[in-house]
Amino acid sequence: MRIVGVIGAGQMGAGIAQVSAQAGFEVLLRDVDVARAEAGKAGIAKRLKSAVEKGKLDAADADAALARITPIGEVAPFAKCDLVIEAATEREEIKRAIFGEVAPLLGPGAILASNTSSIPITRLAQASQDPARFIGVHFFNPVPVMGLIEVIRGLGTSDATVAAVADFARTLGKEVVHAFDAPGFIVNRILMPMLNEAAFALGEGVANVRDIDTAIRLGLNHPMGPFTLADFVGLDTCLEICKVLFTTTGDPKFRPAPLLVKYVEAGWLGRKTGKGFYDYSGAEPVPTR
Ligand code: CAA
Repeated sequence: MRIVGVIGAGQMGAGIAQVSAQAGFEVLLRDVDVARAEAGKAGIAKRLKSAVEKGKLDAADADAALARITPIGEVAPFAKCDLVIEAATEREEIKRAIFGEVAPLLGPGAILASNTSSIPITRLAQASQDPARFIGVHFFNPVPVMGLIEVIRGLGTSDATVAAVADFARTLGKEVVHAFDAPGFIVNRILMPMLNEAAFALGEGVANVRDIDTAIRLGLNHPMGPFTLADFVGLDTCLEICKVLFTTTGDPKFRPAPLLVKYVEAGWLGRKTGKGFYDYSGAEPVPTR
């Protein structure tokens, strides 16, 4: 594998582009227009510069990695990619439209992958031309820091595709875990019920935001408490994943907490909107409850 395409230059896409370029791959970073793709690259440049200033990265290596990333606004250049990873908005119709557009351009050996955190890979594969060369490759936020990639095999994914993508993921310096195409895969299947349960506990008045976060951070040695983490992931994303778990399994244990629904209805989506379980408008986050 030599050339990697990344669709979506937001938080996840830019992170994937960064680690791929740092591992030596040529990267085509695409967003709906070239200006957004360039903004994604500018964010990567900032992060690499900060790593150089901290003495964690050689300046020449940072420059070389950055030079390997080409921002694009159209899909035609993906024709030369060996692997294209979609990291667009977590909405099925958007992803399906992307696969419908990109799949016909790809060479006969190229692989199409989705960074979806919850949409079934087998279903998404139907929007690609060849389910054997379609796979889930789930990165974690912040991508340059987190050591894991979940590789998710759809019903039609070939062994060769699984092996090639697992190799690619290891080349990025990540640990690989394999999951079948079940709702939430491994991490979100286990994480989201915890974040959701924290919202139930908060809604029932068991404790306030700060104490629940402190309890999990210090009582379980998690780097972030559930509300800090939910705000970091985005409450809309958390709710979306809870809904997928609930509707695809039909199991009431996955029903979304009313308070989580309320926060999303209020537009309190976490860090990205400046308010979620914490208010981020001041110097320090202030709990909303
Ligand atoms: N991008 C790149 N690097 C980042 C970063 C970002 N957005 N945020 C922090 N970092 C780096 C910092 O530069 C720092 O690097 P150095 O050690 O090289 O200096 C390092 O991470 C630690 O950062 P800080 O000292 O500022 O802060 P911290 O020690 O509190 O760590 C954290 C921050 C790594 C985010 C840590 O709090 C953490 O691991 N939190 C849990 C994150 C998590 O669970 N992510 C998964 C979310 S679920 C998901 O992504 C999947 C899904 O489908 C929803």
